[in-house]
Amino acid sequence: IPVDPFDLVIFGGTGDLAQRKIVPALFRRYCAGQWPEATRIIGAARGALTVESFRDIVAESLRQYAPKRSKDPEAVNGFLQRINYVPLDALSEDGWAPLSELLSTDRIRAFYFSVGPRLFGPLAERIRAHNLATPQTRIVVEKPFGHDLESARALNATLASHFDEGQIYRIDHYLGKETVQNLMAVRFGNMLFEPLWNSQYVDHIQITVAETVGIDGREEYYERAGAMRDMMQNHLMQLLCLIAMEPPAKFDPDAVRDEKLKVIRALDPVEPHHIVRGQFAGGKQGRGYREVVGNNRSTTESYVALRAHISNWRWAGTPFYLRTGKELVARSSVINVMFKDAPHSIFGEEAGRHANALSIRLQPNEGITLKVTIKEPGQGGMRLVDVPLDMSFAEALGPENQDPPDAYERLVMDVIRGNQTLFMRGDEVEAAWAWTDPIIAGWQARGDVPKPYENGSTGPGDAELLMKRDHRRWQGINP
Ligand code: BG6
Repeated sequence: IPVDPFDLVIFGGTGDLAQRKIVPALFRRYCAGQWPEATRIIGAARGALTVESFRDIVAESLRQYAPKRSKDPEAVNGFLQRINYVPLDALSEDGWAPLSELLSTDRIRAFYFSVGPRLFGPLAERIRAHNLATPQTRIVVEKPFGHDLESARALNATLASHFDEGQIYRIDHYLGKETVQNLMAVRFGNMLFEPLWNSQYVDHIQITVAETVGIDGREEYYERAGAMRDMMQNHLMQLLCLIAMEPPAKFDPDAVRDEKLKVIRALDPVEPHHIVRGQFAGGKQGRGYREVVGNNRSTTESYVALRAHISNWRWAGTPFYLRTGKELVARSSVINVMFKDAPHSIFGEEAGRHANALSIRLQPNEGITLKVTIKEPGQGGMRLVDVPLDMSFAEALGPENQDPPDAYERLVMDVIRGNQTLFMRGDEVEAAWAWTDPIIAGWQARGDVPKPYENGSTGPGDAELLMKRDHRRWQGINP
């Protein structure tokens, strides 16, 4: 569906995120015919570039990050014609008047803050001071949204002094992923699952976001963040919310975000013995974390696994096990809902113990598998065996749906549409930090040192113990 004409200003327009994600996403939506003619993208950064040289940078990034579509010269030229550039300094008055002249007064206006959080305040202030904020204006901010509760509160307060909450779009790109949105469709679009979705039937839930990538090129940021701040506080927290929340009355921004917030607020503090931190230590498949960051005493975690509890009627007594890490054996994001055993086996002891499990694969090979128990064929007596009811979305949906829009395509267009459902509200971010902060403070107070694990493995052995102690085990990282 085409959107209304808009002007999108990307602060930090020459930076890595803009060129790797935002610009290619805009290009793909342009190719999909979703842009009205009048729309324009304005890159803004400190470099004294001409419009032509900025367009060259954009053309190169399209070649690299939108290789398929960028083979069409007509599309590329049409897109480049709509690209402009203004040299501008967030910390001085330079460039603001020329930017103001470029913007139309009668269009949706979006300012994308693709810059470090220390520039959020100055940018917001200057947008106001130069009267660039029309009622149709929105701002988009990226993670990290703060480093802890205090800094997140300060950022929220700064933004709130210049913009209404309804104008602030905080990105968590996991919410833009098709399969993450699919969690809501699976839960709330089917009658089948929801009646069983509670502690009476669910033994526990596992959320795994495993990555094969390391932290190369981001050493400085990562050393200060670690897996807890980089992944757990935001992406895994969002997955937890979507899997655990009550059904919202409507699929609208505040109804959905109110329910997510209730989940985060109902989280118990995590006991220290319910957390395992790890750090990749090298091995045959690459260098260790400490070598990569050049600090042989670093205690930053590149892996974290923990057991969380949600104290509400639906989930009391059902643990949620969350884990994420870098340099692991496979790239795999999957949620496993592990159901309880049938209360009584009519087949006796020899049939063994069997329980249903629903796996929702978010990436790669998106799909759903339901483990069901059937009779083992041909045997005398009644022996049972578990088989998968397996569905790959790609196969089920057919070839025309093989290439769904990526997370940024969806999110950027939602900004233009003015739909905040897939963006984090300020109170949500603060609640997530309020849960995360004591965990990190505990590590610091105890001088905790992460457990080493081999690159290319499934993580530290202690993460297996975390489960074993509860007589459970992780489902394979590469299911
Ligand atoms: C980012 C993190 O937010 O998400 C990265 O900062 C991580 O460390 C990335 O690699 C994972 O995103 P995706 O889309 O590749 O799963």
